Amino acid sequence: MCGIVGYVGKRNVTEFLLEGLRRLEYRGYDSAGIAVTTDDGAIQIRKKAGRVQELAGLVESSPVSGNIGVGHTRWATHGETTDVNSHPHVGGNGNVVLVHNGVIENYTSLRSQLQAIGYVFRTATDTEAVAHLVSHELDELELIGEDVADKEICVRAVENAISKLKGTYGLAILFQSLPNVIIAARNGSPLVIGVGKGENFVASDASPLVGHTNEVVYLADHELAIVHSDSFEVRHRESGRRDPSIHIIEHAAEDIGLGRFEHYMLKEIFEQPQTIENAMRGRLDDEEATAHFGGLNLTPQQLRRINRIVLTGCGTSWHAGLVGEYLIEEFARLPVEVEYASELRYRNPPLAEGTMVFAITQSGETADTLAAMRECKRKGLPSLAICNVVGSTIAREADGGVYLHAGPEVGVASTKAFTSQVTVLTLLGLFLGRMRNLSYQAGQRIISHLRSMPEVVQRTLECNDAVREVAEKYFQARNALYLGRLYNFPVALEGALKLKEISYLHAEGYPAAEMKHGPIALVDRDTPSIFVVPRGHIHPKVISNMEEIKARKGPIIAIACEGDDKVAEIADDVICVPDTEEFLQPLVTAVPLQLLAYHIAVLRGCNVDRPRNLAKSVTVE
Ligand code: F6R
Repeated sequence: MCGIVGYVGKRNVTEFLLEGLRRLEYRGYDSAGIAVTTDDGAIQIRKKAGRVQELAGLVESSPVSGNIGVGHTRWATHGETTDVNSHPHVGGNGNVVLVHNGVIENYTSLRSQLQAIGYVFRTATDTEAVAHLVSHELDELELIGEDVADKEICVRAVENAISKLKGTYGLAILFQSLPNVIIAARNGSPLVIGVGKGENFVASDASPLVGHTNEVVYLADHELAIVHSDSFEVRHRESGRRDPSIHIIEHAAEDIGLGRFEHYMLKEIFEQPQTIENAMRGRLDDEEATAHFGGLNLTPQQLRRINRIVLTGCGTSWHAGLVGEYLIEEFARLPVEVEYASELRYRNPPLAEGTMVFAITQSGETADTLAAMRECKRKGLPSLAICNVVGSTIAREADGGVYLHAGPEVGVASTKAFTSQVTVLTLLGLFLGRMRNLSYQAGQRIISHLRSMPEVVQRTLECNDAVREVAEKYFQARNALYLGRLYNFPVALEGALKLKEISYLHAEGYPAAEMKHGPIALVDRDTPSIFVVPRGHIHPKVISNMEEIKARKGPIIAIACEGDDKVAEIADDVICVPDTEEFLQPLVTAVPLQLLAYHIAVLRGCNVDRPRNLAKSVTVE
């Protein structure tokens, strides 16, 4: 949450900062701001509540230019979304200006201590305490005769200040006395350094760097970077200076563009045939009728000793985990538990040897998922991840894992990451199954169905027009029920989440048979029930559940297979999808639900890619 960007080099920084903030806006969009050191050495700030576009308007009416600066897009944690609470924040008399991502847990005590010695607080943020603290540490060093124009002294002031912080931070700091340097520091909130030629960058993730440089250095916790235009240095709190390893990012500018689509969410929904293919590429082994993963880093002996699996994640990734539970138990006959990462991190479940824990995450930065993974690691289990963002904190801290290779997911509502996660979990089920009791023939059958999925999902996308028509009929509803069974129960949860988050309609996902135990009380003429009812061995049972809703005059939208006359008889509206094997149905049935949420949100005039109160990367707990 919150996006940070910084630049030091030769070009006018303002344009780069604004463009970088636009690309980071998915991390938070409550307000945005920049600070630029101008040619006369003054640090000028422009900041505004609202979107980056509004900041751009402010910068146009009140221009600022220079060759070094930092910017921030905010997801508010402490203090309302006002101009004054927007970042950057100023420390002391203006000698320090900084932007921050994270949460300072001891800010109230720091604030009182700093107020007691004369610091005046102008905002309600936790960040302002950090700005004053760095400024205070600098003043202290100056008092004992240190030269505050000396880089080492500024570094010391930052080190002293961050040693007093409790909580998480990614910081990018400008000093008035040091007009050619950005000091960046990280603990718990991601930061990368972009390495250019005669220019260097700082950012929360690589997206603002695409098109400028493909070389990055990931900062680890307790590291600090001193960034000049032609050099940079990384130091660790304990081990001192380290030789940074440079990673190459592979995204192209078109990966982060909208192309022919109106919204990122729609673009990402339509990318799914390709992203499912990418998740399987090079991993299917026809000869052995299994899957392979390059990065699990477990020996065959370790893999055979596994007797239980825990899948953990948040939101959509947790839903993918639920599908994974069904798949792995079916194929590998291993017990699987799916835990909310936010619960797992504070619970004390038995994690005996033989348990394999997978953290499932698109961003690789979700604070709860990271903490749950660390907790399991602390207890001696190998930490594994299923992750999309290469170089993210979870990807780097995991002992091994599987990348999704879905490319950047920019829309705040996760779509293609979900189907890629489900694809990888299917491969994992196949892999673990083939090490146990899954037959060669069964393995071959799974592979052949998996291979057909990109084409099947491509055909599924043809339902888009039909979904739009259904959306036009129901977009004014106030509540919706999403119902499915077995593999389609997690899909129902995911459909309900998509609708809630981007259209602000209340929706509940349930196993279809469970609705009799409570939610059926919600059914009336104005509450549509969306049934996920493709063909399969539970189909007649779901039909009965549909009848129960029908008897109570609730409108029914069905996601069903082409040519399903029984469903057509009962449902008010049917969205047809291709027939598939039951275990692969989530890859198909999730698509019309993503589209339904999308079209309803558009019709309701909601901001599909930037829904209120949300952010793409939830880096606070
Ligand atoms: C919903 C959504 C969220 C995320 C959740 C976990 O559309 O995007 O529920 O799935 O915040 O994020 P990751 O997968 O990045 O750990």
